[in-house]
Amino acid sequence: RNLEPYRVALYPGDGIGVDVTESAVKVLETAESTFGTFSLEFTNFNWGCNYYERHGILTPPDYAQTLSKFDSIFLGATGWPAKVPDHLTADVLLGLRRQFDQYANVRPARTFPGVKTPLDCDVDMVIIRENSEGEYANVGGRFAQGTPNEVAMQTAVHTRRGVERVIRYSFEVAEKRQRQKLTMITKSNAQRYAMVMWDDIFEELSMEFPHVQAGRQHIDAAAMNFVLKPESFDVVVASNLFGDILSDLSGAITGSLGLNPSANLNPERRFPSLFEPVHGSAPDIAGTGKANPTGAILSAALMIDWLSVDGSASIAGDAIRAAVAECLARGESTPDVGGNLTTAQMTQSVMTRITHKL
Ligand code: NAI
Ligand code: MG
Repeated sequence: RNLEPYRVALYPGDGIGVDVTESAVKVLETAESTFGTFSLEFTNFNWGCNYYERHGILTPPDYAQTLSKFDSIFLGATGWPAKVPDHLTADVLLGLRRQFDQYANVRPARTFPGVKTPLDCDVDMVIIRENSEGEYANVGGRFAQGTPNEVAMQTAVHTRRGVERVIRYSFEVAEKRQRQKLTMITKSNAQRYAMVMWDDIFEELSMEFPHVQAGRQHIDAAAMNFVLKPESFDVVVASNLFGDILSDLSGAITGSLGLNPSANLNPERRFPSLFEPVHGSAPDIAGTGKANPTGAILSAALMIDWLSVDGSASIAGDAIRAAVAECLARGESTPDVGGNLTTAQMTQSVMTRITHKL
């Protein structure tokens, strides 16, 4: 069949970002040729800290304009603190999230048979973090800076439109999952304006999704329950700050930073969405072949799920997830999860399982 290809921009970035992007691309190409239900066209951008050494900037100034022409963006990881200060590298990503209105940061976190975890639990949850406003709105200032009278104001900005759209998207995600459960994180006992508005909007929208079991927890109670009974969570939606904290906590539960995928979505599809593993560029293991490619490969699976609106790639996405889980269960994995394969060998193992439908 002659399929219209999805155009994917690759931004491998720095350190192990380059290795795991290569893994993700190989696995996608394997799934593409095995299933034949979708087609991908990759364009590579060599931006990041090496580019910085040559050009004095991390990306060309019109990078967002360039990327806006793609259907999606796949990012490895950016950052190399010995070459470029971290706040500069972070600015590139933050700029993309803002310009492409990627307001839903989706972070699935699950445990895998065969992988030791800090808590003895069996978890399969999705954290959805509001990614465009809230506590990180960058509104405020410092008065009389550096004097004994100094005052700092940091104002959170929660808009009805911003809160409604991320909660609605979370209900839609919860509705499609088997457990159909959504927990909203609040703190309306102490934050009487913004968090009460979150509560109100959540109650209003819950009427539209009668099949979803909807509940609220205060952030402090939720942090406790993530440790005491993580199995009880299915989909969790939270403001920017609360979601930042809980998504790191959910990632820690799974056993290695190398396992967790993420998506920065513009659910209306007016702009490209961005897919990336949760981990960074890991300079301590870069170039050693020790990077676990799982987070990147699972991000790639999320990406094809997202790109194929009609669901034509979902069998391929499921096959990728199953192959990764099978490798982890059999110890065909990297040292961080107890295996002794290199990044390339684990990737090959995943590819073999997809091709032979093992
Ligand atoms: P990191 O995630 O790169 O590494 C933390 C620890 O986890 C390291 O010991 C590393 O070896 C290990 N690790 C990470 N990913 C792994 C994988 N796939 N397999 C096996 N082990 C893995 O975080 P760190 O060290 O704080 O930051 C390093 C650089 O990455 C910094 O420049 C930071 O700004 C950047 N960073 C970039 C992110 C992004 O691109 N979205 C996210 C987080 C950090
Ligand atoms: Mg974080």
